[in-house]
Amino acid sequence: MDKSTHPSNDALALKLDALPRSVLPTLLRQAPKAELHLHIEGTLEPELIFKLAQRNGVRLGYPSVQALRAAYAFTDLQSFLDVYYAGAGVLLTEQDFFDLAWAYFERAAADAVVHAEVFFDPQTHTSRGVPMQAVILGLHRACLRAQADLGLNARLILCFLRHLSEKDALATLEAALPWRDCFIGVGLDSAEQDNPPERFARVFARARELGLHCVAHAGEEGPPAYIEGALDVLQAERIDHGVRCLEDPALVQRLAQARMPLTVCPLSNLKLCVVPSLAQHPLRRMLDEGLCAMVNSDDPAYFGGYLNDNFLRCFEADPALTARHAYALLRNSFEACFDLDEASRQQRYQQIDALFEAALAQLPKTG
Ligand code: ADE
Ligand code: ZN
Repeated sequence: MDKSTHPSNDALALKLDALPRSVLPTLLRQAPKAELHLHIEGTLEPELIFKLAQRNGVRLGYPSVQALRAAYAFTDLQSFLDVYYAGAGVLLTEQDFFDLAWAYFERAAADAVVHAEVFFDPQTHTSRGVPMQAVILGLHRACLRAQADLGLNARLILCFLRHLSEKDALATLEAALPWRDCFIGVGLDSAEQDNPPERFARVFARARELGLHCVAHAGEEGPPAYIEGALDVLQAERIDHGVRCLEDPALVQRLAQARMPLTVCPLSNLKLCVVPSLAQHPLRRMLDEGLCAMVNSDDPAYFGGYLNDNFLRCFEADPALTARHAYALLRNSFEACFDLDEASRQQRYQQIDALFEAALAQLPKTG
């Protein structure tokens, strides 16, 4: 059974079967979208790495942009993280963090992203002596400008690095509290294998006490049990990636029933060898199982594409992805936003409906 669309919109969903796949690239490009799994450090393009290295007098281990880009051949998550943390070493000042985030927001707006809940990794910077204030205020200033100049709602989510200790995570959260109003939640990222969510029970309890939303990477490289740990112990409200849930049918049923959002990142999964090819990516299966999955770009500067690239490459690679799937993915992205008021959410649903209705109205009449 196809359970891929939200029940409240079954009438339109049925009509969508009439839409040919050829109209989808344009629809997907134009449709408003929310991006919910995006590491701001993962938007650091090689050109900006070189520019900031020069500005800050940081020595790079690569002679050119081309040589750096050529190093982006990853075999797994850890091989990527090594390059990603090294790249972030050029970020030193508040202005650097502003420039980084502003460059992302401009690109995101070009992809019709209208709402973004953006991850940042303070420990990657504070461990190098960068003040927490420079990180948060630089990013926050870019969020304010995104709202003012691009009409893009931008929010921040502070992530803990799971290869470090919980003690370090607790100290990081406390150090960020002077800027509590600048972020809406906490997350858990970095090396998943052998770093189960249970290790971070206390810091997530503290975050919940502070009224922060909770998300966690789980089921990217780690087993389905890590998804259960994120739900039961961290009380995560979204699961980042979550693709390995499909190995456990009872977990799939639980996630579908709860409409737990899964922030799927197809090009990331391809580049980090979580899947052998995009044609074999489980995105369609996840939707057909009734999961609240949506498309995200994770670390687009490293994985070969921003949000629209992720959408278009998936639809190109899997001929069984239909208008219904496209519709569900777009709608799910707004269903899963934390900081979007109900009227705006309904408005986004209506805009998506209107786009699909307009595409239907343009079809040649039959009979
Ligand atoms: N940090 C940045 N990207 C990540 C990913 N895909 N998984 C875990 N940690 C990350
Ligand atoms: Zn991620």
